[in-house]
Formats: sequence, structure tokens, C-alpha cells
Amino acid sequence: MKLVKLLANLGYGSRKQVTFMFREGRITDDQGAVLYADDQIEHARIRVDQQPLDPPLGLTIMLHKPIGYTCSTSDHGQIIYDLLPPRFRLRSPILASVGRLDKDTSGLLLMTDDGKLLQRIVHPKSHLSKMYEATLARDLVGNEADIFASGTLMLESERTPLAPARMEAINSRSAKLMLTEGRYHQVRRMFAAVSNHVETLHRSRVGGLALGDLPIGEWRALEEQDLKILFE
Ligand code: URA
Repeated sequence: MKLVKLLANLGYGSRKQVTFMFREGRITDDQGAVLYADDQIEHARIRVDQQPLDPPLGLTIMLHKPIGYTCSTSDHGQIIYDLLPPRFRLRSPILASVGRLDKDTSGLLLMTDDGKLLQRIVHPKSHLSKMYEATLARDLVGNEADIFASGTLMLESERTPLAPARMEAINSRSAKLMLTEGRYHQVRRMFAAVSNHVETLHRSRVGGLALGDLPIGEWRALEEQDLKILFE
């Protein structure tokens, strides 16, 4: 790909603006030699104003989403893109969230610009489990794990029952829930179906990939190894 297109796709500006940046000599290699729009050079050696280039296309990240942020590219309030470098919103293809977390849910959110990978993660055949931790408004009564595991629970306005899900009580007012599907507001609706109410909800794991000690509001790029772990 021509350098000018690469930089435009990474959100450094329109093609016209990027062409101008080349003319100004702002695009160099790692030794400071000025680069031109048609040059072919390894991504890692390119500098813009002496700074290394953003990660190449084919980027997948994990974000520790805080409460209060919407998984959307435009909203009146705070959105997940506010937590990323501003240029990331201008990348083409865009870094899209893999599924969604509610505004009031925190935790592990994957984002990728790789459409095939996104489809693979969300495809039901991938059976990627998601682990949630919920705190509840009322004490667990004891039959919730059996109801969720039954594979017969019907949520309001759904046509098919939920797939079996595994629940483990942490204490009387909190539980871990492992889901293999991602229906709208699923965890909140599941607890509502057993006459409870989710007060806080956090996702700690997707597939084999855990949030680990990634601080709230921060993100990191995933490596090959992370993607392997994700599908384990
Ligand atoms: N279930 C919910 O209710 N909300 C989420 O954000 C994710 C799963």
C-alpha cells in the first residue's frame, strides 16, 4: 500500500492533508531521512514528526470499559472511542467493538478492524464463553443456577429459550455467570426472570482471555498469543 494511503487509513488526515505532510518533510524513516508518498518501507521504521506510526491495520485491542461509556461511534454522552487515541476513530476500516457492553456494564471489551476475526468471535459456532460478575439487589434463593443451566429459560419477547448457562454464587448477593450467547441485556434480563435485579455488572473474561490487571479505562493491543488464548 502506498504510504500516503496507509497514513490516511490510519487516520492521520485526508489524502490531501497527508500529501501535504509529506511535502513538509514530516514523514521520515527511523534515521530521519524524509520519505515520499510512494516509498515502500517497513511499518516499524516510519515516523511522523519523529513519532512511531500507530499500530498497523489488522489491529485488535482489549479495553477495560468503565461504567458510563456507550459502545457507539456517536452518542450525546461519553463513548468508548473517547478512551482511545483520537486518531483511532478516523481509521479505515474503523476499530469496531466486538458485540457490546451496556453503558452501565464495565469490563473486557474487544475491538477490532478485522471483519473476519470479528465474525469468528461472535459466531455461535465459536462457542466463546463470556464471564460476568453481577452484584444483586436481593439474596439468591438457591435455585437460580439450576434454572440458568436448564436450557429452557425463556426471556420476555424472545422466541427461543436461552442456551444453558453456568452460575456460581460468590455470596448471597453476588454471582459469576458464564454465557455462551449474547442476547440483548442478557444478564440483567436473566436475573429479572428469577425476580432479582442486577445492581452492578462486570465482564472479566471472553473465551480464554481475561482482563487481568489492565487498569480501568485503559487498552492494550492484542498479540498473536492473546488471540490463541482467546479461542482456547
Ligand atoms: N448482559 C447484560 O445485561 N449487559 C451487558 O452489558 C452484557 C451482558
